[in-house]
Amino acid sequence: MTNHFRIAILGGGNLGNSLATGLLATGHFQANDLIVTRRKIQFLNHLQQQNVRITSDNRGAVEESRFVLMTVKPHQMESLLQEIQSVIIPEKHILVSSVTGFPIRRIRSICGNVPVVRIMPNTAAAIGESMTCLAAQEDDQGALTEVKELFDLLGKTLVIGEELMEASTVLGACGIAFALRFLRAMTQGGIEIGFPSETAQFIAAQTLRGAAGLVLKEGQHPEKEIDKVTTPMGITISGLNEMEHNGFSSALIKGILTSFHKIENLPPLAGKE
Ligand SMILES: NC(=O)c1ccc[n+]([C@@H]2O[C@H](COP(=O)([O-])OP(=O)(O)OC[C@H]3O[C@@H](n4cnc5c(N)ncnc54)[C@H](OP(=O)(O)O)[C@@H]3O)[C@@H](O)[C@H]2O)c1
Repeated sequence: MTNHFRIAILGGGNLGNSLATGLLATGHFQANDLIVTRRKIQFLNHLQQQNVRITSDNRGAVEESRFVLMTVKPHQMESLLQEIQSVIIPEKHILVSSVTGFPIRRIRSICGNVPVVRIMPNTAAAIGESMTCLAAQEDDQGALTEVKELFDLLGKTLVIGEELMEASTVLGACGIAFALRFLRAMTQGGIEIGFPSETAQFIAAQTLRGAAGLVLKEGQHPEKEIDKVTTPMGITISGLNEMEHNGFSSALIKGILTSFHKIENLPPLAGKE
């Protein structure tokens, strides 16, 4: 299946690099199955050293590929699509966009009736632990299946309606930053109560992984697991309640809503660098 097809990643920035690294690590692809583009090509030397093909020629990369992954910023997307649209062949290509706030109908209005799948992965794709949400229109279910198979190699996937793509950006993609800030705060607390920073970070990170694993494995409500570690009048509940008095859950929920509303107010999509 997918390993017989070349993949172009147009926009080798943070996410593009994570996807390239993750795809290489799966062992399902030869390095030269991947072509990564960006304009400042010197920033892709690390990929070239692993035999990934790098170029600033987006059209050439599209012509050689089946999957065209587009990982540019929202305001860069329109000019990228204008640049490649004349070399897109609907029977050959699947356009795969990670670009926030750029709907399928807008991609099609520039590129015509080509299969399009929107994806919202996160940077943990680099280690095969992405949470990737995917959406496509009714007539693109075949393409959706192919793209899902590709991203199944990079972590967990979930097919959602396109109207939820912005919400998935916040929860799944921005969520990496939210979780890491939580981890940093835990580490800082750990240092204050006696651990060297590396040890504190290690304990905090493995504890977070374990907590997430408990919920993912059993699929049950986090509060059930919290109940197991909160003895009446005990140490855990006193710390937890102090955090809540200081707005712990509320701050997180408000931050998620702020990020979500920010997507609605993204700057104009075209002509901005
Ligand atoms: N970062 C994440 O965790 C994440 C997760 C999910 C989705 N997303 C979405 O993915 C997109 C990329 O995010 P990012 O954080 O990876 O941004 P980024 O680091 O700025 O990467 C974008 C890259 O695109 C390149 N680029 C711009 N115009 C180009 C063009 N015409 N041809 C080829 N390359 C071009 C830029 O490099 P040059 O300037 O050198 O060309 C830059 O390296 C955004 O739309 C974002 O919403 C990001």
